Amino acid sequence: MTKVKAVIKGVGGFVPSYVLTNEELSKMVDTSDEWIMERIGIKERRILLEEGLATSDMATSAVNQLLEKTNTKPEEVDMLICGVVTPDMQFPATANIICDKVGIKNAFGYDMNAGCSSFLFALVTASKFVESGTHKKVVVVGADKMSSIVDYNDRNTCPIFGDGAGAVLLEPTTEENGLIDSFMQVDGSGRHHLHQVAGGSLRPATFETILRRQHFIYQEGQPVFKAAVANMADASIKMMERHNITHESLKYLIPHQANMRIIEATARRMKLEKDKVMLTITKYGNTTSATIPLCLWEYEKELRKGDNIIIATFGAGFAWGACYIKWDYDGSKVALPID
Ligand code: UT7
Repeated sequence: MTKVKAVIKGVGGFVPSYVLTNEELSKMVDTSDEWIMERIGIKERRILLEEGLATSDMATSAVNQLLEKTNTKPEEVDMLICGVVTPDMQFPATANIICDKVGIKNAFGYDMNAGCSSFLFALVTASKFVESGTHKKVVVVGADKMSSIVDYNDRNTCPIFGDGAGAVLLEPTTEENGLIDSFMQVDGSGRHHLHQVAGGSLRPATFETILRRQHFIYQEGQPVFKAAVANMADASIKMMERHNITHESLKYLIPHQANMRIIEATARRMKLEKDKVMLTITKYGNTTSATIPLCLWEYEKELRKGDNIIIATFGAGFAWGACYIKWDYDGSKVALPID
C-alpha cells in the first residue's frame, strides 16, 4: 500500500504593525544599536501594543489568511494545534480560542509548549494524525506575544524577542512530496538556563513573585547559545545523511531565529553557504513559536515543487530537533506581498 504523508498546502502569517527599534530600546535600557547588531543581529522587532489583544488574535489573523489563500472553509478543518509559550491564559488552550475566533467548529485541537521548538513539535505531531488517516485538514500554528513576558528593564533579554504568528495547512498525499522525516529530543536538565520562574504550580503568583520580576523571561545566554548551535546543526546533518541530501540539493535550511551568530555558527558547522539559510531575524527578532512559519511566509515566493528543506529548532526545555520536507507547490503563484 502507498504510504500516506502529510504535506504543507499553504502558509499564512501576521506581524503587528508597531516597530520597536534598537534606538527606542536604547532609551529604555543601557544598550546600543551597535551592540545589538553585533551580538544578536536584530535591527527591529514587532510588538502587539493594542490593549486587549493577545496571542490568539495574531494567530487568528494568520489562520484567516491561510484559509483564504488555500480556499479552505473553517468548517472543513478537522484539527488545529497551536505551538505557543505565551498562551492567552493558563487554560483553556489557545487552540480552542483560535478555533472559536476563526469559526472552526468541527475540529479538535490543543496547545503544544516546547519553547522555541513548539512549532516544529506541533508540525511533526500533526503530521502523524494525517499519516494515520484520521485527519485530513490540519492547521498548525506557531504564535507568541513575547512582549507579554519580556522585562523591558533587562538588557540581557529585551532586545531579543518580538511578537508574531504563522500557520500552515497540512493535508494527506501519496506523492513523493511532504514531511518525510524528523528527529526531536528534549533534555530537561537544561530547564535552569531558560525559563519563566513564577506563574506555574511551583511558584504561583504572589506579591513577592511580582516584586522579584519572576513572571518575566529568565535566560543564561551562553549555555543556551552553545547548546543551540551544536544541536540544531547535528539534527540537520542527521536529516541530510539519512536522505542523501547534499549541500547542492538542499534548497533551504530554516533555522530558529534566536541570534544571527547562532544561525551563522550552525551553518558553519554544517558547512552550508549563507544564501541557503532563511533569515527574518533582523526585522522580526525571536518570535519563539512563530519564527519558522514566519520564515516560510516570507520566503514562500522562492519555493518550488520538489525543493528540499530542513527546519531546525532549539529552545527552552531544552527541546530541539529538525525535520526534512519536500516542498509541494510553486510559492510564486500564491505568495502575498509582505511589507
Ligand atoms: O530562542 C530561545 C533560545 N535563546 C537563544 O538562543 C539565546 C542564546 N543566547 C544569546 O543569544 C546570547 O548569549 C545573548 C544575546 C543573550 C548574549 O550575548 P553574549 O555575547 O553571550 O553576551 P554575554 O551574556 O556574555 O554578555 C557580555 C556582556 C556583559 O557585560 P559584562 O558582564 O561583560 O560587563 C553583559 O552585561 O554584554 C553585556 N550585555 C549587554 N551590553 C549592551 C548584555 N546584554 C547587553 C545589551 N547591551 N543589550
